Amino acid sequence: MDTPITILGIAGSLRKLSANRGLLRAACLAAPEGVTIEIFDLLGIPPYNQDDETTSPAAVSQLKARIRAADAILLATPEYNYSFSGVLKNALDWASRPGGESAWQGKPVAIMGASPGMLGTARAQYHLRQCLVAFDMQAVNKPEVMIGLSAQRFDAEGNLTDEKSRQVVAKLVAALATLTRKLK
Ligand code: FNR
Repeated sequence: MDTPITILGIAGSLRKLSANRGLLRAACLAAPEGVTIEIFDLLGIPPYNQDDETTSPAAVSQLKARIRAADAILLATPEYNYSFSGVLKNALDWASRPGGESAWQGKPVAIMGASPGMLGTARAQYHLRQCLVAFDMQAVNKPEVMIGLSAQRFDAEGNLTDEKSRQVVAKLVAALATLTRKLK
């Protein structure tokens, strides 16, 4: 049997009916045997303040502990003004500090995103990939999960209903699991 792995899923939207939160739920449902996806909600993470980085706020300490405990990370990002959301950047920054104590260091990671437009967060994802290089994370390259036209692919509760999209999410989770086991 394959080694069991735990993936921490983080969505860059705080919206209750967020499509990107829905993408994470779809990933949970698509996880193969031996792969568990847990979700960390960024709602309680305060704005980054370098004055507080050594005595992190409790929510930030929890985030860092959950990242460290996970074997891999799965990020679901919205696209805001051609980039990924400030909510996600804020969390990435907190967990990367203090210098030399980044929780992201070396972690396997996969990214995905959904938006109402045609490009399905493509621009946001390439900005996000750039930050993953700064964190020295090991990113899955393919498949690229860029779910456009989200209004047609998610229901009113933000659940992913489009079968082809669910299949590509499943492939991404499987690719992340394969990379994680290879690096272990
Ligand atoms: C957006 N949206 C958006 N969409 C897009 O495809 N490209 C973009 O540049 C932007 N810019 C943008 C800026 C801001 C401030 C907001 C609030 C929204 C639309 C965005 O993709 C849409 O609201 C998504 O549904 C957000 O993701 P969640 O909340 O559904 O996960």
